[in-house]
Amino acid sequence: MANARGPGLPNVMVLATGGTIAGSGASSTTVVGYTAATVGIETLLNAVPELKTVANVKGEQVFQIASENMNNDYWLKLAKRVNTLLAQDDVDGIVITHGTDTIEETSYFLNLVVKSKKPVVVVGAMRPSTAISADGPINLFNAVILAGSEEAVGKGVLVALNDQINAARDVTKNNTSTADTFRTPELGFLGYMQGNKPYFYRQSTRRHTADSEFDVSNLDVLPQVDIVYGYANMNRVAIDAFVAAGAKGIVHAGVGDGSLARPAVEPALDDARKKGVVILRSSRVGNGIVARNGEAKDDEHDFVVSDTLNPQKARILLMLALTKTTDTKDIQRMFFAY
Ligand code: DGL
Repeated sequence: MANARGPGLPNVMVLATGGTIAGSGASSTTVVGYTAATVGIETLLNAVPELKTVANVKGEQVFQIASENMNNDYWLKLAKRVNTLLAQDDVDGIVITHGTDTIEETSYFLNLVVKSKKPVVVVGAMRPSTAISADGPINLFNAVILAGSEEAVGKGVLVALNDQINAARDVTKNNTSTADTFRTPELGFLGYMQGNKPYFYRQSTRRHTADSEFDVSNLDVLPQVDIVYGYANMNRVAIDAFVAAGAKGIVHAGVGDGSLARPAVEPALDDARKKGVVILRSSRVGNGIVARNGEAKDDEHDFVVSDTLNPQKARILLMLALTKTTDTKDIQRMFFAY
């Protein structure tokens, strides 16, 4: 639960992990071909002196990477640090600065493992800190306000860039390079940042954070779950390779409503299932529900469906589900709950 806030400004911790928000380019007009993860947290905070007017801010460099290099070890380190800090009465909220390439994955992972209702806001930038009209400083300023706000308490992990507030479960990167890239297609933003204040109009109906059954506090390794991408003329090679490499779960990013190519792919997934690998049917489409027993006889094959989670998020939920069970009925419950 959020601690009873003291008088005065909220106490917000900013945990830095790298990315473009900490990036630098050869000149002020370098907006592609720059180097991510070069500027330290103290420099980022000092570049926005206005932060002192909205929160008592402290910074910590948890690690410094371009987020395409994110992995389970980094996630476990970050999640444990976040939970330790949120358990402190002198921390009201947390901002995580992060590369935008995998912001949607890290935020969803945290949405499932943070054990607090206090705000956690993940923020990035689409232009490096050295660029004309760098978006990092204003994004960071807004993220600190949001993380220190009462309005964000209990809303789950949030992704806030470009004055827009997205839920970790549904946000995804929609454009390779524009500042408005983060969207929640069809289901929409939760709200906006405007005039240094958060405005919420919706909230997630799915379980998250303090209401989550997942706990990584005693975990040092997460189960290997991989994704195979569906396309015309697909074969079984990738599926067999992932099984041979020891995957505990495979997410199939199918065409359409999670369709499986026959005779190449479905038998490969059946063979994997017979070896104990949990099979998750998702879709490459990006929106909509993957219906159970729709494009495949899931009951008969003992497959699980992803509901509306895209493949990269379905992978995360399946990975955490496998830390608790291999029972596919229980795992399917989780996909209809989170
Ligand atoms: N290398 C990418 C990353 O760290 C840069 C993209 C960005 O942060 O906006 O995610």
